[in-house]
Parts: sequence; structure tokens; C-alpha cells
Amino acid sequence: MRTLYKIAIENLSPGIRIANVLFPDPDFSGPFLLLKTQEDLKRLRALGLKECWVVREGAEASEKNPVPPKAAPGAPSETASPRTSADAPRTSAPAVPTSPSAQGGPAQSAISVEQELVSLKGFYQKSFLAARELFLQTQETGEVRIEAVTDVVDDIVGSVQRNRDALLCLKGLQRADLYTLCHSVNVSMLAVMFGKFLGYDQEQLRLLGLAGILHDIGKQFIPASILNAPRRLNPDEFAIIRTHSTLGYEKLAAHKDVPELVCRGVLEHHEKIDGTGYPHGKSGEDISVFSSILSLADVYDALSSNKPYRKALPPTTAITTLYEMRGSAFPPDLTEKFIRCIGVYPTGSLVRLSTGEFGVVCGNPHETLNKPRVLAIPRDAGRFLFTQARMLDLEKTPGVSIRAHLNPTDYKFDCQKVLKMWGTRGS
Ligand SMILES: [Fe+2]
Repeated sequence: MRTLYKIAIENLSPGIRIANVLFPDPDFSGPFLLLKTQEDLKRLRALGLKECWVVREGAEASEKNPVPPKAAPGAPSETASPRTSADAPRTSAPAVPTSPSAQGGPAQSAISVEQELVSLKGFYQKSFLAARELFLQTQETGEVRIEAVTDVVDDIVGSVQRNRDALLCLKGLQRADLYTLCHSVNVSMLAVMFGKFLGYDQEQLRLLGLAGILHDIGKQFIPASILNAPRRLNPDEFAIIRTHSTLGYEKLAAHKDVPELVCRGVLEHHEKIDGTGYPHGKSGEDISVFSSILSLADVYDALSSNKPYRKALPPTTAITTLYEMRGSAFPPDLTEKFIRCIGVYPTGSLVRLSTGEFGVVCGNPHETLNKPRVLAIPRDAGRFLFTQARMLDLEKTPGVSIRAHLNPTDYKFDCQKVLKMWGTRGS
């Protein structure tokens, strides 16, 4: 018998298996993460959570009557896990502050998410059209004309400077049939948001935004019959797809207006720190921090977006997957900072609260990842009671917590529209 129960983070020990890593979801069915070392525990505590759900096989336990955990038989002994210093400045890469809470960290925004969303009216469509123009020009002329997207990059940086979280709401507007274009805009937005979190300056954010839009530009040189094949690719076709990062780099490197940092980010966005990536199988600190930021944004958006052949993973599952890739694909420290930046419940998510109300996440202003600011909306007889909505800061609202992440389409609920209405009305 498999049982989940809640436990304080401070009571965890190596050998315990955590359900869904970070998320208090009692319905979760796996996969489970085995805490192997004290270093794993330290990292988990550093995420700012107070408690989590863990799993025991063959135990009779419940949230109310937890069984004290024992180390699993054969659990690896404590060893120093390899660390990659994501914070160390590297050649041609912006220096990442050693303490995100000192210069980046939780958002201290000039205006609220809902106010910023009102000012972003039409922004996603404009970004999408600019990316389409860039891609079409590249296909037609064989040249990459970055002028098509520089205004959009400036808009992204401007929005993130006003409120770091608001653009996450727009990410949900993507269409599966236009995946590549939406993905490029999303990666740009996510990379700039994360750069802001890390304390990057305006110019560094612009470079991240540009690299995000351009990261897959090399795919414009891959035959459409392979790129859009509605079937599993054979090894030769995979090899052709994998040339896209080199093709993009070569085109951009020939362009005098594209900074070297952007070119390198495009070249390295599929490298992995364990050396199993491509095109060059670089490892560790041979991959720039700038490139790892793009890579994190790329993978997170790919996991959390609808694709022609599969539905998007819930944000919580996408973040769990990223967490499990730390140390193999991405530097561990940088991965954990990315999760802190996005939040366990990303801005724009729909959740169910312990009060029974529905909630739209409106930013993660605190260190505690599972206590965001939420617009709470009662629901009665299948109808949302918007007139009774109230803004709650869960960090400052004892007794109210998030119980589950919900899929807005299951409830015909438009999170962005609701937040915009609230922003227009004022809070
Ligand atoms: Fe790519």
C-alpha cells in the first residue's frame, strides 16, 4: 500500500521519497524523488518551503497521523554531490549575482500584475507578428534581420522592469499549431524574467531577450518535411534537426550587429552540463551561464506548452521535471533560482484554495514559494461569483493555502481576462 503524508521540511532525512518534489498534492501518483544526500536536503530547504508530501510503501499513515519516516534500505550514503558554480563569471557571460535575494530574488514591482496586464493589451499578438516576419525573412533571404524583433525585445524588457511576473500570464495564449513562433517569444520572455531575477542590467536583459527570440532561428534552414513530420523521426533525421543550433550560430555570427554573447547562446542552448548535449558535447563551466539561462527557458516552455502531438504539462509538473534535470542538463544552483523565479504556482495559474474558492495566481512576491498573491473567487452552483472576488496575499493570510493546481480549460476560465478586469477595476 502506498501512502502519502505531509511532513515538515526540517524533519526530512536522506532515504525519504518525496511526492511531486515540492507540491502538496495528495492526489499525485508519481514519479517520486528520492532524497539521497544531505546536499539534496539543503537544496530543498533553500527553496523556502515549510513542508512537503512524502511517500511510504506499505505504511499506514495519513496527513493527520503520519508515520515517522525511516531511511530506505540501500539508500546511498551521504556523498558530496558535484557542484557547478553557476554564479562564477565566465568568459563573455554577464556575471550572475552570488545571492539572488541580494540583487534579484522575489519581485519588488513598481506596479501589480493586473495593472501591467492592462497595459500589455495586444502585446503578445505584436510579438508574434514580429517573430513571424523575422522567420519569413530568414527563410526567403537566407539572412537573419534582427531589426524585425528589436522593438519587441525592448517591450519585453520594459514590461519585466515594471512587473517581473505579468508576462507569464501571456505565455498561456500560445497555440499548438503555431508552436515554433510562440515558443520563440515565450523563451525570450522567460529568459528576460529570469535575468531580471538574477539582477542583470538593462543591456544584459536586452541580449537575453534577443537570444530568446533567435535561439531556434537555425530551424528555418531545416527542410519542413523533417521539421514538421507528424511521426517519429529516424536517427538520420534527428541528426539533421540537431544541426539547427550550429546553422543559427553561423548565420548570426556573420551578422555584424549580433553580439557574440547572443551567438554563443544560440550555439549552446542544447548543450548539457554532463556533456551529453549537442552540438559539441560541452560540459560544466564550458557552457556559459547565459546559454544555461536560455536552455532552462527553452525546456520549461517546451514542457508547459501545448504541442501538436501532446498537451502541455501542468506548470507544477514542468517545474518538477526541471528540478530533476538539475546537475545533468543544467547547473543545480541556476535551476533552483529559475524555480524560485517562476514560482511553484506560476503567475496566471488557476488553483483551488483551502477555503473552496478558486484562485488566480498574481505573482510570487515572497521567499515562500507556495504562498503567492492570489485573486480568490468563490464559486457556487457552477458559477463564478466575480463580484465577491478578493485579493489575498497567502503569506499574510494564515489558514488559507493552495490545495491543487487546476486546468483553466476544464472550467472555461480565462485567467488573463479575469486579472485584466480586476486591474481595470483597481484593487
Ligand atoms: Fe533548439
